[in-house]
Amino acid sequence: MCGIVGFTGTRSAAPLLLEGLKRLEYRGYDSAGIAVMGNEGIRVEKVSGKVQKLCEKTGDGAAVPGSTGIGHTRWATHGAPTDTNAHPHLSNDGRYAVVHNGIIENYAALREELTAKGYTFLSETDTEVIVHLLEMYDSGDLKSTVLRAVARLEGSYALGVLCADQPDTLIAVREASPLILGVGVGENYFASDVTALVSYTKNAIYLDDGEFAVLTPAGITVYDCTGRQIEKPVTRVTWDVEAAEKGGYAHFMLKEIMEQPAAVRAAIAPRLRDGEVVLDEFDLDAETLRQFNKIVITACGSAYYAGCAAKYALEALTRIPVEPVLASELRYSDPLIDAHTLLIVISQSGETADTIAAMRECRARGAKALAIVNVVGSTIAKSADWTLYTWAGPEIAVATTKGYTTQLAVLFLLAMSVGRKLGRLDDALYPALLYDILRLPKLIQNAIDLNHGLGALAKKYHRASSLFFIGRNTDWASALEGALKMKEISYIHAESYAAGELKHGTIALIEEGTPVIAVCCNAALEDKTISNIVEVKARGARVLAVAFRGDRKIVAQANDCVFIPPIHTLFTPILAVIPMQLLAYYVAKENGCDIDKPKNLAKSVTVE
Ligand code: AGP
Repeated sequence: MCGIVGFTGTRSAAPLLLEGLKRLEYRGYDSAGIAVMGNEGIRVEKVSGKVQKLCEKTGDGAAVPGSTGIGHTRWATHGAPTDTNAHPHLSNDGRYAVVHNGIIENYAALREELTAKGYTFLSETDTEVIVHLLEMYDSGDLKSTVLRAVARLEGSYALGVLCADQPDTLIAVREASPLILGVGVGENYFASDVTALVSYTKNAIYLDDGEFAVLTPAGITVYDCTGRQIEKPVTRVTWDVEAAEKGGYAHFMLKEIMEQPAAVRAAIAPRLRDGEVVLDEFDLDAETLRQFNKIVITACGSAYYAGCAAKYALEALTRIPVEPVLASELRYSDPLIDAHTLLIVISQSGETADTIAAMRECRARGAKALAIVNVVGSTIAKSADWTLYTWAGPEIAVATTKGYTTQLAVLFLLAMSVGRKLGRLDDALYPALLYDILRLPKLIQNAIDLNHGLGALAKKYHRASSLFFIGRNTDWASALEGALKMKEISYIHAESYAAGELKHGTIALIEEGTPVIAVCCNAALEDKTISNIVEVKARGARVLAVAFRGDRKIVAQANDCVFIPPIHTLFTPILAVIPMQLLAYYVAKENGCDIDKPKNLAKSVTVE
């Protein structure tokens, strides 16, 4: 989705803005632009297409002199991805430039009003109303002009404003769309994402909704929505720029797959003390936990599938019914949720619009929300009742890998902790689970090592027009994520089915050579899944099984096998997904796909 950067200082702004925009490319976008305050006023350069095109157009920024500016990568919502619709937008008098993330819901009415007053619109965007409002409300005082203009806006917006009358000043405004300020020495920044800031400063201020900031090279002042100055803490970003770079890997996705042992270690290590799972951020006593008579999990995409996979561990260990619901469905479903519902909200980015809306809906009905989030300071992290960070570090590839496995790790810890506190986790089972949790980083490494040959195997599957992923119980949950990985980066149609459902319709689609990925890591149901393997093979399917290392039964039945090390059934999804991530990666590579930035997708889906 859209990305924003802003810089004010004494250095040349344009190269820094372009560099910042490059770091935001992973979010997905279709046009880019910058506006820089120069000697002759604000100069805007924008292009449809990649940031590289903007670099070429501007000689890497050298052609746009000036030391204060704003930049944007746009993911089109209102109007096609054209040069004209790209941000920044300029007011008719050329004195204001604006970049915007989010959606102005009342833009049509504002556009009509502004047009009637004689303002000329050049673009089809909702954003353009903002620059004309700024011009209309111009009072000579930038801060109060911005306040009056944003008071007219309905919807979500992170804004960066540049005004020719105050050449070294930027204004940053946040309402329901992320915006982070970077605190430098003699220079200051803002960005929609901390990845654009870390190469310049690690000192960040996270704006909250309704707040805005005035930035000059000398300092940053933050205000609430009434214009009253407020104090905000400066947070130290814990990871450095290398964490957001490829580090020798061909793609971020591959790097992030390989980072999973370390990421899962970071998620679990601080939460294991003296043989106990300790969740400091969610330290409820048994009496409080007993008040929850159900758990609802809400999320989108892979985060939802993490919820589907963790449902089994949560129910088995806590004996509380667990219902995963897609956030985009939950928000409009008049849900049966009340103060006895524990809502678990899962999100890598913490900014997914549907997930935020579902959380708000459920909290309004009395539910308490526990967020499981990766991005520190994100909207979901800040608005939940409790937040467990997954500590996966920056995830740049659009297809989540370490984001998903760290979510599972945290969910498993949660299941153990709650189960233990409620006295529902068997004393004999606990040490066995703890043993597997402690070994998770090693087991994940082992799963990666066991699958180095997947590049070669992918050559057998990459020409498929359709793939089916099947499994039962925990394996079905793994299959859901496996199929999503495959379709989002390789663009091959992939479907996941509960293996037992095949003969209720889907088996009609199996024909000679149809690839079927069968997840068989649930020992209790293995024979059942094998019977489904036999059925599809009888109809010509080529079966690739995901199974425990040394499983001879599967070797005898499947055409190809990929292996993971043995682990307790409840935890298998965290390992079973590894070969499927690698398979999707190598199939996409074989097909020459844009693996880190698949078409039509964005890393952080901040619009409905
Ligand atoms: C995963 O590979 C996808 N890119 C997508 O399904 C993602 O998981 C979903 O959009 C949710 O994102 P979030 O975790 O940031 O909320």
